[in-house]
Amino acid sequence: MRRISIIGLGKLGASMAAAIASRGHQVIGVDVNRRAVDAVNNGRAPVQETGLQPLIEANRTRLRATMSHVEAIAESELTFVIVPTPSDDRGAFSLQYAAYAFREIGRALRAKTERHTVVLTSTVLPGATRRGLVPILEHHSGKIAGDGFGVCYSPEFIALGTVIRDFLNPDFLLIGEFDATSGEHLEACYREIIDHPVEVRRMSLENAELAKIAVNAYVTSKITFANTLAEICAKMPGGDVDTVSAAIGLDTRIGRKYLTGGLGFGGPCFPRDNIALSFVARALGVSADLCVSTDALNRSMAARIVSRLRGIISRDVTVAVLGLAYKPLSHVIEESPAIALAKAFLDAGARVLGYDPLAGTAADLELGGRALILDSVRDCLREADVVVVATPDPEFRTLTISDFASPGRQVTVIDFWRILPCELSAVSHIVYVPYGRGGDDADGGVLQRLWGETALHYGS
Ligand SMILES: NC(=O)c1ccc[n+]([C@@H]2O[C@H](COP(=O)([O-])OP(=O)(O)OC[C@H]3O[C@@H](n4cnc5c(N)ncnc54)[C@H](O)[C@@H]3O)[C@@H](O)[C@H]2O)c1
Repeated sequence: MRRISIIGLGKLGASMAAAIASRGHQVIGVDVNRRAVDAVNNGRAPVQETGLQPLIEANRTRLRATMSHVEAIAESELTFVIVPTPSDDRGAFSLQYAAYAFREIGRALRAKTERHTVVLTSTVLPGATRRGLVPILEHHSGKIAGDGFGVCYSPEFIALGTVIRDFLNPDFLLIGEFDATSGEHLEACYREIIDHPVEVRRMSLENAELAKIAVNAYVTSKITFANTLAEICAKMPGGDVDTVSAAIGLDTRIGRKYLTGGLGFGGPCFPRDNIALSFVARALGVSADLCVSTDALNRSMAARIVSRLRGIISRDVTVAVLGLAYKPLSHVIEESPAIALAKAFLDAGARVLGYDPLAGTAADLELGGRALILDSVRDCLREADVVVVATPDPEFRTLTISDFASPGRQVTVIDFWRILPCELSAVSHIVYVPYGRGGDDADGGVLQRLWGETALHYGS
């Protein structure tokens, strides 16, 4: 049995604390927020995350929380630090919260005789751990890193909504180590937490810091590539982005994941990690063009879509945006492409209705009352002239033809994820636009102009 402490009982930290306790280890969590500490000590989840509440309840004997960093360090052998590292106005990540946590850990280490390993899990940029945070530990502990205590940087590759599952079933474990002893200690702990064989990659702190943001930045490029394919397919007679993605996804150099053309990426990690990689590139004198283009293409999607719909969006048109969170089954609207689209429709003068099974309240606040957020998808459909399926939520997959407006009223349905029944296109009062498929308005003339001459020239 290991004794682990976790500093920061937020979306990632609380889930990790419960998951580690569920593997039979003793876990003590620390938070500066008393409500989070009380919640854990009362067997309640301090944040909303799938499976967290039952996991905390089931592991109460091995999991407790405190506001004292000293107590937590004294009662554990290894500490994960998972505090916020918000983006600053340069696009880098602020170390403000981590610095405070490291100061408190440093003070606690001063009183401790056994070696202790401090593991930073928060997302930071290359150099931040060694140059920004280790000196704080050394100063306040009066000890030298690698001698008096160990240091690692070890981020997690998890998605909100599946944090516990992702943490316990990683594709690989990434360990940046100050020294070999620190890396060995963390690897040994991980091997007792993750109950199946898993690849471990140990490297310098800086390479691990870069690898973390590189994963998310790479995925954003891949999503944006798929979205570009979708835009091309939409303009091509017979074009079908799903057919193209399914085929190229079979190439092992590419793979199928994150290759579904749709409305773009958002959320608390993808956009900011991509921007942060541009920051690092520029700081080191390397071109940031790739990341900058990905970000710009993603952010300009809403404007491009509204501009393409110019003909049908006007002041007396009601648009229903179905799905407002940054992804299905989430209450998070941070950097949500659906919210960006709703704002673009509002700016174009349309009346906007919105619906999301979980994110309605957050969306209402964000849109400042400019859109009407309704409690049911069918209420939205009753009033809408234009319906936009902005997230591939399971609830929207169950919609049938009869849910859309009655005959006599024309409705345009733009399905960004192609999840509605194809039969919608056969209904006379519905114009069904599965985004990323070339329909009647796809411009065959362009292809004719490009290649028709060849046939004329060589055909006879
Ligand atoms: N949420 C994700 O999907 C995700 C995924 C990968 C990486 N990360 C990274 O993990 C880090 C934490 O993210 P999160 O989403 O869990 O944040 P969060 O805001 O949900 O939680 C952070 C917690 O840390 C506490 N805290 C702040 N300073 C503290 C201190 N000095 N001592 C003790 N507690 C302190 C806060 O009160 C809060 O409860 C960030 O760097 C984030 O980029 C998050």
